Amino acid sequence: MEKADIIESLTGVSEERKKSRIPAKLDFYQSATGLFLGLFMWAHMIFVSSILLGNNAMYDITKMFEGQFIFGEGKPIIVSISVFIVFVIFIIHAGLAMRKFPINYRQYKTFKTSMNLMGHDDTKMWFIQAYTGFAMFFLGSVHLYTIMTKADKIGPYASSDRVVSDWFWPLYILLLLAVEFHGAIGLYRLCVKWGWFDGDNPKQTRANLKKAKKIVTVIFLTLGVLSLAAYIKIGIAHKHQYGQRYVPTSSISIQYNKHGKVA
Ligand code: HEM
Repeated sequence: MEKADIIESLTGVSEERKKSRIPAKLDFYQSATGLFLGLFMWAHMIFVSSILLGNNAMYDITKMFEGQFIFGEGKPIIVSISVFIVFVIFIIHAGLAMRKFPINYRQYKTFKTSMNLMGHDDTKMWFIQAYTGFAMFFLGSVHLYTIMTKADKIGPYASSDRVVSDWFWPLYILLLLAVEFHGAIGLYRLCVKWGWFDGDNPKQTRANLKKAKKIVTVIFLTLGVLSLAAYIKIGIAHKHQYGQRYVPTSSISIQYNKHGKVA
């Protein structure tokens, strides 16, 4: 028996697989799509929380994404296309992550036992990421598909109607928790894995990154809960005018003429 054959029979890893660059490439794509989605979710939360500044603020942000400043009127198709692109990246990321899930109950048990024995924080984080990632397969898909196909129904009243009258609030509570834990842990793990911010003292760096992760989670969860509460409050008040669209009232709202110039 050749040495390579012995190694293969013991580890299950063939010589070709050892030489293959594919696993490293897939790892890179998983990190790249994760980084995009993590940073996207920070921007997303800032835009969604514009509702905390008032209805006009959220209305203006919505119209900005619909390209009103270019076309003179909102084009929701632009939002649909953007959501489609995010959706594709979301699916690629989830597909690549599936490689890392335990394949059977025995693998799962082995992992769980060693996690409990080690009491290692980063191993626990991996577990949280696997669970929240799994939940997002379903929760994220429902949200993305809805926003993609109903991009013309985004705004202070339309979004609040969706949250309350269309019963999206339970989904959003779960999705918010999953996204914030998954995203913050994911970005932390990326920093550790690729050695970003590594200084002379890796132990200290890791402790600092953990602290940063906690702060980011608390900030974005708070912002998310407050925003959701605002949409729920508006949605309850607007229940009897379900479907009626918001018309901006104050001069803070930016109005554009048909040439796309601020009127
Ligand atoms: C381009 C893609 C996306 C767009 C245009 C978008 C748009 C929106 C809008 C308008 C809302 C307000 C509520 C509503 O209208 O239903 C919202 C809420 C929310 N979205 Fe997205 N979304 C996108 C992608 C994502 C992704 C990828 C996730 C996570 C997987 C996500 C998670 C959430 C959560 C958790 C909320 C509730 C936030 C809160 O108020 O606490 N969204 N999104």
